[in-house]
Amino acid sequence: MTPDPDTVRRLRAAGCVFAEEEAAVLTEAAETADVQLDALVERRIAGEPLEQVVGYADFSGIRIKIRPGVFVPRVRSELLVRIAAEEARPGSVVVDLCCGSGALGLAVRHRVPGITLHAADIDPAAVACAGDNLGGDVHEGDLYDALPSHLRHRIDILIANVPYVATAHIPFLPAEARDHEPRTALDGGDDGLRIFRSVAAQAREWLTAGDEPRGMLISEITEAQIGTARAIADENGLTSSVVSDDDLDAYAIIARPPDPAR
Ligand SMILES: C[S@@+](CC[C@H](N)C(=O)[O-])C[C@H]1O[C@@H](n2cnc3c(N)ncnc32)[C@H](O)[C@@H]1O
Repeated sequence: MTPDPDTVRRLRAAGCVFAEEEAAVLTEAAETADVQLDALVERRIAGEPLEQVVGYADFSGIRIKIRPGVFVPRVRSELLVRIAAEEARPGSVVVDLCCGSGALGLAVRHRVPGITLHAADIDPAAVACAGDNLGGDVHEGDLYDALPSHLRHRIDILIANVPYVATAHIPFLPAEARDHEPRTALDGGDDGLRIFRSVAAQAREWLTAGDEPRGMLISEITEAQIGTARAIADENGLTSSVVSDDDLDAYAIIARPPDPAR
C-alpha cells in the first residue's frame, strides 16, 4: 500500500527518519482499530513512540501488545531471551521480574512452550499490559514482594531486565524514552545498578540451588557496568559470567547460586 503523501510529509517534517514506513504502519493500525489516522499521526508527531501509538511492538519474532506509557522492548534484549531459551525446558519455572509489557517472558515461552511463567512489575500500567500479553500469573509489587511465596527456591530462570541507566545519563536518552516511558522503567540510580543490587541480594532465596543446572539470574547491563555488576554478584554469593552480542550491542550478566558440592 502506498502511504498517503500528506501523512509522509507531516511525519518527515516532525523529524521521523523512516517517514514512509511509519506512515504505512500508522495507516494499517488506524484501519485495524477503526480510528482516525489523523489522531495517530498527531500522537506520533508529538513524539510518542510508534509502538505505543499503534499498540504493538514486534520483538524476537512475535508481536507484543504495548499500552501507552509502558516501556517498549528493545531489540538488544533478545540476548536475554536467547540465553533463557537455551536453558529452559518444558516445566522450567521462569520468572520475568521487572516485566514491563511481558515481552521477554512471552518470547521465551514462544520458543520453549511448556514452561511455567510468572511475571511481575511495580507499575500497574505495565502489569495490565503484561496481562494482555501473558494471560495470567502477572503480579504487581516491588521486586520479589510481588511473587507468590511458593516460588521461593523454585525459580529456574530469573530474567530481570531492570532499569539500568545511571541517573546522570537520563537527560541524554532519546526524547521518546524520556518523555513517554516512566522514569521507574529507566532510572537505575547513581551507577545504574541500584535495582540490580536489590535483585542480586535476594536471588539465592528464590533460585533453585540443589539440582543441576542451578537456577540462573539474567540481567542486561552496559559494558561499563560489567566489573561492578560481577562484584555485586560475588558479594551476594553468586557465581557470575558475562555474555555479549556485538550485533545487538548487548551485554548480559548470568549469576547462579554456588555449587553445593564445592
Ligand atoms: C527497563 S524496563 C524493562 C521492561 C521489560 N522487561 C522489557 O525488557 O521490555 C524496567 C521495568 O522495571 C520495572 N520496575 C522498576 N522498578 C521496579 C521494582 N522495584 N519492582 C518491580 N518492577 C520494577 C519498571 O516498571 C519497568 O517496567
